[in-house]
Order: sequence, then structure tokens, then C-alpha cells
Amino acid sequence: MKLDAGLFLILCITLLSSTTRSHVLDEAPLIDGHNDLPYNLYKLTENNLDKYNFEKNLTNDPVWGSKYCKSCFTDLPRLRAGKVAAQFWVAYVDCKVQYKDALAKTIEQIDVIKRFAKRYQNYLHLATSTADITNAFASGKIASLIGVEGGHSMDSRLGVLRMLYDLGARYMTLTHACNTPWADNSYVDDSKPVHNLTAFGRLVVREMNRLGMLVDLSHVSHNVMNQAIDASVAPIFFSHSSAYAVRNHNRNVQDSTLRKVKENRGVVMVNFASNFVNSDPLQASIEDVAKHINHIVNVAGINSVGIGADYDGVSSMPKGLEDVSKYPDLFDLLQAQNASRWTNENLKLLAGGNFLRVFQEVENVCSEYTTSMFK
Ligand SMILES: *[C@@H]1O[C@H](CO)[C@@H](O)[C@H](O)[C@H]1NC(C)=O
Ligand SMILES: *[C@@H]1O[C@H](CO)[C@@H](O)[C@H](O)[C@H]1NC(C)=O
Ligand SMILES: *[C@@H]1O[C@H](CO)[C@@H](O)[C@H](O)[C@H]1NC(C)=O
Repeated sequence: MKLDAGLFLILCITLLSSTTRSHVLDEAPLIDGHNDLPYNLYKLTENNLDKYNFEKNLTNDPVWGSKYCKSCFTDLPRLRAGKVAAQFWVAYVDCKVQYKDALAKTIEQIDVIKRFAKRYQNYLHLATSTADITNAFASGKIASLIGVEGGHSMDSRLGVLRMLYDLGARYMTLTHACNTPWADNSYVDDSKPVHNLTAFGRLVVREMNRLGMLVDLSHVSHNVMNQAIDASVAPIFFSHSSAYAVRNHNRNVQDSTLRKVKENRGVVMVNFASNFVNSDPLQASIEDVAKHINHIVNVAGINSVGIGADYDGVSSMPKGLEDVSKYPDLFDLLQAQNASRWTNENLKLLAGGNFLRVFQEVENVCSEYTTSMFK
């Protein structure tokens, strides 16, 4: 009798997990806005790809394992288990190199992303457009996009911005955790604004619109978020930020700005980092991330939310979202909590539909500029 009950339970769990787990992510691409693996490659290998075995589950690896590297969460087996279809790999350089070799180091990060995508071209497809993402998904490869994290990378030169685009970068975060000469970062919110978004900053935003580059407002101050939305003629996005009303961290987005994002037709890709989702990071869990997502939907609507987990960029992730294999659990949780909100269609919008629409609009604005300016 006992054994039968046990077997029955196992059967139920197996059935349940095979029917609920991740269904929608097989039908629509999961697009993540932010993964800092390239910075780990720089820190741990000086960009020597021989020292990183992407094809191996590195959970217990003596260098890359979670016990040894607190900010390492990524490899191919786990990305596949996580059903990640498209990933923005981040070309990030520390604020300490602003006014020094920021540009050279940024180009080295772009270089390592490109070599990585090429080395693993059986699994990855270097992508620069919505069409690339859709095609990679159809062919079962992970679309690999490049994002530049921090306006200090462009060294206040529009020519450099244009060449970053030419090298394949499809977003630039206007700042990292330091002000640029033309935009304040989020930490000024804890003191006072220095110069907000300057006239040159508005020009940077418009040049990005013209190029077809996504304007990323994660890391900028509250005022700069609003001012960049006003300056942009295309939808903006946040590559990795959560909801300020749920966790009052300056990296998160306040409700007043969420309402502007809705009007602007932009998208906030939710950051999972323990410290951004819960004021007590040790207590952070997958339920907290669900709260952030639901809050953004409550304030800005179902068309304004996406995923930008920040794996490999932070040293602590919530219980239940320990590494890149866990995304499907979040989709299952949302649906289990509120099936009337989280229909399959809405889960697909969260997974990547909203981001793809934003990116498509950014591409459209670019082509309108091109035809009106150069015909
Ligand atoms: C990776 O390895 C860990 C530790 O052995 C295991 O718990 C996990 O299920 C593995 N994940 C995948 C996707 O193979
Ligand atoms: C920054 O913008 C805010 C909001 O528009 C404004 O109140 C403030 O005076 C500005 N500060 C500076 C230094 O530009
Ligand atoms: C569930 O979703 C519906 C539809 O979006 C919403 O009106 C309702 O408030 C949600 N329920 C909870 C408990 O959040």
C-alpha cells in the first residue's frame, strides 16, 4: 500500500513536471537582456577561451563552480535546460577606466564575445537584428547579441558610438555606476543630481535612435530615465532593472517612470539579483522576482515587461533561480499563482515577445531616419 502511494506520487510529480515545465518557452523565444559572462572571461581567463569549457556543466568545477566563483552561473548545458533562446552578452568595463582605456577594453570585450560565438557556432548564432533572433530560434541556436554596459565606453565621441554599432553592439546602457560627462548614474539618487541628461546626452539618445541601437536606462538616475524617455523617438528599454515600489533600490524603476515606459511603448527587463529584489538579500527567492514582474504589469501593463536576469554580473541570486537553468520555474510559478493573468500568450510576451516588439520598433525608427535623411 505504502509503496503504491509512493509510486503514485512520483508518477504524479513526473507527469506534472513534464506537462507544466516550460511549455511556452518551446514555442516562443526566451530573450534575456543581460548576462555578464564576458566580464568573468576577462577576470578569470584574461579572455583566453581555452580556459572556459562552455560545453560542460560547470556547477561543481574547481574554477567556475558556484562554490569557487560567486558570480558564475552560466554554461551551455544549463542555458539549454533554462531554454534560453537569445542572450545579450555584455561588453562591460569598470568605471575606473573612464577617461583612460575604456574604449580599448570595451573593444576587447566585444572581441571575446565574437570569438566565443564563433568558437561555439554549433550552438550560438551571433545576432544583430530581430530577424536574426527569430531565425536562430527556428534553427535551435542561442541568438547571441552584444550590449555595451556604460556610456563611459564611448568616451563622449559620437563617432565611437557609431563604430560600436558597426561592431555589432545593439544596446548601450547610458551609464554604469558612475556619471558620464553627459548623464547621471543611479547613485546620485541617494544624494543629488549633478547634471541629469545634458544636451549632449540627448544627442547621444537621438544618435542611437538614428542608428537603430536600443537605449538602455538600467543604471541611470531617476531623472535621467525620464529625460531619456522624453528625448527618445523610439521605445527605450531597461536591460536589467526591477520595480522600486517592491524593493526601494536606486537601480530599480519607480512607478512614475513605469507609467512613462508604458506611454513610450518600452520594456523593463526584470533583474533577478538578490539585492535588487529583496531588501534582505539572504531571504530573496523566486517569489520575489514574480512580485516584481506582477508589479510592473500592474503599473505599466502586460506589454512592458521582460527578463534581464543579470547572471554572472552579481554574486547572489535568489533561492529557486540559482543559475541559468532555472528560468522555466519562474514561468511555471507565475502561471500557477495566477492563471488568468499568465495565459500562454502573456507568458510569451514576458519571455521575449515584448522585447522583440521594442527592438522591431527601434529598427523601424532607424529605417525611417535613413530614408528621410539620405534620399
Ligand atoms: C549540472 O550539475 C549539477 C550538479 O551535479 C546538477 O545538479 C544539475 O542538475 C546539472 N544541470 C544540468 C542542466 O545538467
Ligand atoms: C535635474 O532634473 C530635475 C528634474 O527635472 C530638476 O528638478 C533638477 O533641477 C535638475 N538638476 C540639475 C542639476 O540639472
Ligand atoms: C490575477 O490576474 C488578474 C488579471 O490580470 C488580476 O485582475 C488579479 O488581480 C490577479 N490576482 C492576483 C491575486 O494578483
